[in-house]
Amino acid sequence: MCGIIGYIGDKTASDILISGLSHLEYRGYDSSGVALMNNEEVNVFKASGKLINLIEILKTKQNICAKSKIGIGHIRWATHGLPTTQNAHPHTCNCKNLTLVHNGIIENYQELKKELEKQGAVFASQTDTEVAAHLIAYEYGKTKNLLNAMQNAAKKIKGAFAFCAIHKEEPDRIVVAKRNAPLIIGVGQGENFIASDIPAIIEYTKKAIYLSDYQIGVITKDSIEIYDEKNTLIPNKIEYLPFEAVAISKMGYKHFMLKEIHEQSDVVRNVLAGKLLSADKKVVLDEFKLTKKEIKNIKRIQIIACGTSYHAGLIGKYVLEKFAKIPVDVEASSEYIYRDTIADKNTLAIGISQSGETADTITAIKQIKQDNSHVVIITNRADSTMARLADSLLPVSAGIEVSVAATKSYMAQLISLYLLAIYLYEQKEVEQYKKEIATLKQELLELPSKIEAIVENTSNIQRIAKKYSSYKDFIFIARGINYPNALEGALKLKEISYINATGYSAGELKHGPIAMLDNNMPVLAILNTGSVYDKVLSNCEEAKARQAKLIGVTNYIEEKDASLFDDIITIPLGSETIGPAINIVVLQLLAYYIAEYLGKDVDQPRNLAKSVTVE
Ligand code: AGP
Ligand code: GLU
Repeated sequence: MCGIIGYIGDKTASDILISGLSHLEYRGYDSSGVALMNNEEVNVFKASGKLINLIEILKTKQNICAKSKIGIGHIRWATHGLPTTQNAHPHTCNCKNLTLVHNGIIENYQELKKELEKQGAVFASQTDTEVAAHLIAYEYGKTKNLLNAMQNAAKKIKGAFAFCAIHKEEPDRIVVAKRNAPLIIGVGQGENFIASDIPAIIEYTKKAIYLSDYQIGVITKDSIEIYDEKNTLIPNKIEYLPFEAVAISKMGYKHFMLKEIHEQSDVVRNVLAGKLLSADKKVVLDEFKLTKKEIKNIKRIQIIACGTSYHAGLIGKYVLEKFAKIPVDVEASSEYIYRDTIADKNTLAIGISQSGETADTITAIKQIKQDNSHVVIITNRADSTMARLADSLLPVSAGIEVSVAATKSYMAQLISLYLLAIYLYEQKEVEQYKKEIATLKQELLELPSKIEAIVENTSNIQRIAKKYSSYKDFIFIARGINYPNALEGALKLKEISYINATGYSAGELKHGPIAMLDNNMPVLAILNTGSVYDKVLSNCEEAKARQAKLIGVTNYIEEKDASLFDDIITIPLGSETIGPAINIVVLQLLAYYIAEYLGKDVDQPRNLAKSVTVE
């Protein structure tokens, strides 16, 4: 979580830090701060709340800003200590010579703190980070060298970190270190940059070095030196950053979320490009590295993911089991880890992650890798930590997703899973379902126009959003392959509107949740033609009999049944299998318009962060 930025060069550092932090704001936004260094001094400015509060402070410090060409900055997602100004980063030591920003969690901070207090350290915050600041300063006292101080401190720290530090006595450099948290060094000419993620620096440079775990970097305006764990200087591996600055603009939309929902038709086209050419051609998936023989030996698939990506995995289970005829387990990464899991070389592991940086999923992938399972990573970030762990990497290329609520990345993940299921089906030469597979391929090719039909005509969705925006609770129901969308629709709504929304499989309603139904409880039912249509309709009858307000999201309804519903959102026709990729767009829009109507901070909902890099 959180965003780190650093600059060293000839420009006004504060401008670059603020611009960088504004592009990292999606990673955390409970407080922010910068440290500005010039040859005489280091000045720290911090503010709680949104970045704008820090910007206002800096406006009054123009003299200091103008003369500071080196700086580090941070936007926080609190793990230890309230989101106050005091706890905001940067943190310093007693003598204020060392200044540090940190992303991650220092697990042994209490032990370290006790030791440091014995040495005289006085703490000014409740954060774990401040312990690292004092520790590095303490090591500096012994080594008089920031690189060595960082090396020694890093060895004593347990947990996850990306550190960015400056020291008054070495005013020409920034020292960085990393373990299980992302950090990149942007390479410029006569200037260099540090950031947690590409959007922060993409307008300044397209070249970067990805720091690996246990490496330490010393960055001046003209040089970048990277040292490995053994303190050996290693050659710089400069990579090209695959993004355009325009990818992080709202392009006229009120919110990134709305823009990203609208982009989904193009996202589908992108994911299919080069892989699915027509309904009568086989899916091409060169990224999948197992041979036909190895595919036939897969006995089981284990999908691991969190949040929205986990919901995509649940839909993946339906299509993979049906078409590839392989049993699939889907588990939230945080539950998969730290227990005795069973996997082997005949298990195909699939990790799904928009960011590719989710700590729980990374740990789960490392765990399953030890069992020799082939690891497929489906991610929107081919440059991420998870991508680097992949045996087969399926990048979904949805473009940078800025809104904290995932939308277009979910769509891209679904399409990737459909493609993977068809690919495995074709490689295994399963005979059954030939017709369904041909239909599914055709429907995938037609999906972009169906998505466009929904996003271009939202007046009914907006009307319904307004009508239901004052309800405090919501239930989403669906069955079969659409059940995961009941979970995802509810997650979207609660994430951005803070309405208590829960998704249930429609058949489970009568086993408990039905007790909550009355006319204050709207129930949204996904009603797609296919094997469970009548069953879901009966479940809707049961809800109506308890006076629940009923909203149907359906691709087909007979007039006699329509009267059961208080409101209906009709979506383009599609088979049961493609259904989730169509109806999810409605659920995303409904959540968006409810939150928007309530005046919520849609792109940066409270308490959340885009990239959850702590377990
Ligand atoms: C969804 O809207 C998210 N806020 C969240 O649930 C997210 O899907 C989850 O944290 C997983 O992230 P990842 O896909 O980047 O791994
Ligand atoms: N653990 C640190 C804190 O709570 C850093 C959190 C972050 O990554 O934003 O301040």
